Amino acid sequence: MPRLVIVSNRVGIPDGKARAGGLEVAIRSALEQMECLWFGWSGKIGPHAEAQTLTRKNVTYTTVDLEQADFDEFYNGFANSVLWPVLHYRLDLIEFTRRDQSGYFRVNEYFARQLAPLLRPDDVIWVHDYHFIPLAQALSDLGCRNRIGFFLHIPFPPPELIAALPNHERLLTQLSHYDLVGFQTERDAVNFASYFENERGALHSHPGTIVVDGREVAYGAFPVGIDVADFSQLAQKAAESDFVKEVTDSLGGRSMIIGVDRLDYSKGLPMRFDAYEMFLKNFPDWRQKITYLQITPRSRADIANYADIGRQIGQSVARINGTYGEVTWTPLRYVNRAHNRRQLAGLLKMSRIALVTPLRDGMNLVAKEFVAAQDPDDPGVLVLSRFAGAAHELRDAVLVNPYDTEGFAAAIDRALSMPLDERRGRHRALYKAVCASDSEGWAGKFLSRLNAPARNSRGDVRVVAGT
Ligand code: F6P
Repeated sequence: MPRLVIVSNRVGIPDGKARAGGLEVAIRSALEQMECLWFGWSGKIGPHAEAQTLTRKNVTYTTVDLEQADFDEFYNGFANSVLWPVLHYRLDLIEFTRRDQSGYFRVNEYFARQLAPLLRPDDVIWVHDYHFIPLAQALSDLGCRNRIGFFLHIPFPPPELIAALPNHERLLTQLSHYDLVGFQTERDAVNFASYFENERGALHSHPGTIVVDGREVAYGAFPVGIDVADFSQLAQKAAESDFVKEVTDSLGGRSMIIGVDRLDYSKGLPMRFDAYEMFLKNFPDWRQKITYLQITPRSRADIANYADIGRQIGQSVARINGTYGEVTWTPLRYVNRAHNRRQLAGLLKMSRIALVTPLRDGMNLVAKEFVAAQDPDDPGVLVLSRFAGAAHELRDAVLVNPYDTEGFAAAIDRALSMPLDERRGRHRALYKAVCASDSEGWAGKFLSRLNAPARNSRGDVRVVAGT
């Protein structure tokens, strides 16, 4: 069996530290079966030095440091101040400079140079997320001929929005150097194909394969999932922990509403807090009976747009607690500290409802984790934004439009008032949907498509080196 080489900016090194981000969760639970090399950034800033390596069970983790200029231009700059906002439909937040763009390509070439000597001829390479769009071409320029796939964890918007990206032609062409490009939803996959059709006049050689500059690129939707059984068990065990008991005691018999999101403008926290405030105003009977816990680890703190959203949220929290709080009751608990997976599982399990209401999200695994954590006999209710990728699968959640404050406030009341029979019915359907695209299935489907023999434009199988 060939080795699997995973490349992602963040690497899930098993050091017990709490981290934020769905990408690590998804990859980690998909890796258990095969020999793997997981390659990426160490999370440290320092002069380029030798790669650091750690092996645990079947996985070798190899990471490299980024220099300060790399971090500024590649991570804070082009990746998170240009690609992130564009791909989340937020053209108003783009901060483009040519220097950052060059830094982005430079760091991709650096990663390619570090990775190339570690590769074996029959390795299958799977690159993750928007940080590494140019990596396939950079590796190919160094003589790498391995099968190579790319998965985008975040949305891919319609072509008109991509066209706002300075030099989009150059960047998007780089995606055509992958053998397979995967997306979270069918809509993202269709947007990808439309971009090449509209902007480049590209044609399909057959369904799910588009031809760009003579290269055939397979593409498709591979919704990311979680290890459902593992997370349910974890939640059950965590429910018995001292931590969960302490939180339960602190609620004084009240029900808990929960939200877990990185501090990011795509998560729609100001709109969510507005809706919660309106809920407290319009449904006063619930006051004092519920407590909303919002866990929001800080993220990308050096970027101005992130500092701004942090300030805006702080003001909303103060306003809500100032207006509706009592000496004995805090309506909204807002916590910036990251919690480990076990603690989160326990908190999700004990919550009456979860608010997962991004303005735009590739998938959102918290939605799936909440479903997996529930007790099927007395399940909580998921309130989910229709703009999360997860809404394509989790149709039985209470779906909301986060921009409709009154509708959202009414949905919170509806979720809290929902009769047991309806909660059970919805949970059954949601649990089935979460199981249908679990993490193993996600990786399995992507990798078997990546490893499938490529076809030429007539649909005949063409011989590919390394397969
Ligand atoms: O899934 C999107 C993503 O950007 C991942 O690539 C990343 O691991 C996660 O969110 C957290 O973001 P960051 O690595 O910038 O803290």
